[in-house]
Amino acid sequence: MLNGKKIILGITGGIAAYKCGHLVRLMVKQGAEVKVILSHSALQFITPQTLSVLSKNEVLTDFFDKNFNWNNHVHLAEWADVVLIAPLTANSLAKMASGACDSILLATYLSARTKTIVAPAMDLDMFQHPSVKKNLETLKSYKNEIIPVETGELASGLVGEGRMAEPENIVSYLNDFFTKNLPLKGKSALVNAGPTYESIDPVRFIGNRSSGKMGIAIAESLVFMGAQVTLVLGPSQVEIKNKTIKVLRVESSEEMYDAMLANYSEKDIVICSAAVADYKAANVSELKIKKKEDNFKLDLIKTKDILLELGKQKKNQCLVGFALETNNLEEYAKQKLKNKNLDLVVANSASDVGSGFSGDTNKITIIDKHNKITNFELKSKQKAASDIVNYIIDFVK
Ligand code: CTP
Repeated sequence: MLNGKKIILGITGGIAAYKCGHLVRLMVKQGAEVKVILSHSALQFITPQTLSVLSKNEVLTDFFDKNFNWNNHVHLAEWADVVLIAPLTANSLAKMASGACDSILLATYLSARTKTIVAPAMDLDMFQHPSVKKNLETLKSYKNEIIPVETGELASGLVGEGRMAEPENIVSYLNDFFTKNLPLKGKSALVNAGPTYESIDPVRFIGNRSSGKMGIAIAESLVFMGAQVTLVLGPSQVEIKNKTIKVLRVESSEEMYDAMLANYSEKDIVICSAAVADYKAANVSELKIKKKEDNFKLDLIKTKDILLELGKQKKNQCLVGFALETNNLEEYAKQKLKNKNLDLVVANSASDVGSGFSGDTNKITIIDKHNKITNFELKSKQKAASDIVNYIIDFVK
């Protein structure tokens, strides 16, 4: 995902420029903010209007706009997380290799302290020419990255190497670029969150006040650090903004148990933050229960303890549980850590102001299996989530 990434897309004048509308759309769809700079010759192949609509940003072609305002290429370069030039023609490549600066695109390239990634596109023999090869080597020596050209039919009708990488492949290159150095790259995580609803009859259930916010924030924080995340989510109203999280919706503790067990074995990190009901109705009535007696007794039985079972089946997973207590926080949390065979327990007190189920803040204490106790300040659930994930990163190192 390119969520929140700031990308400058420089387009130079090759026929593959026509694919850049699709490229911009793909990047924006993944959450990137894209600003486009066109070379003058690119204007022959794609219009600034199209790119402006798709990127939802102004498109630049000159150092000055029509009102003679200066387009500050230094600020533009500072703004970007990456400069992507696609397609890159032989002419613009030669200019980049030589340090020429006769356009706002080249000025932005020369000003950029962030990584520049290029996707060359040219015809068969041009691409094979030694000067092109040499210029590409020069860009590499400047620490620019080259997205390999693809093989196929070229604009001339010749068949061979030289096509610009397809927009989907460029986007996947960018995804790898942004995630390759993240600490949880290659790790998979399983998180549960939210309440469970245990049916009593077709219209009633036993539930609790959990919002799911803490677990969702943990899932997002894990993704931010590069992990692949599956979230098993009870009935929560919170919107999951990050589309890379695989969300499995469940309602009852039994469904949550099944989903967690089915997804457990291959995971590296497993975090159980869900407020699973401890009891459910012994018998669920098929029909709505009618109001008859003054006193109504409901027969309850224990639900399955999901975390306890995960602890029993644990192999190499780092298993993290939560403990929400009103009293004896440390003592009870330590008992849960031991009884459920956890690596870490995140304890929080329902009696602390600002902590607990439905609010936006939490005050947590992490206790690990080596008995190390770390207290954190009251903070937003997002920041608490990133404290938990950072702790796990250090713990599994
Ligand atoms: N948990 C679970 N399945 C249950 C009950 C709890 O997986 N049926 C998990 C929770 O997700 C949490 C941890 O166990 O990570 C501790 O939950 P908590 O409600 O604090 O404690 P319980 O084990 O239910 O014990 P008690 O209610 O007596 O404190």
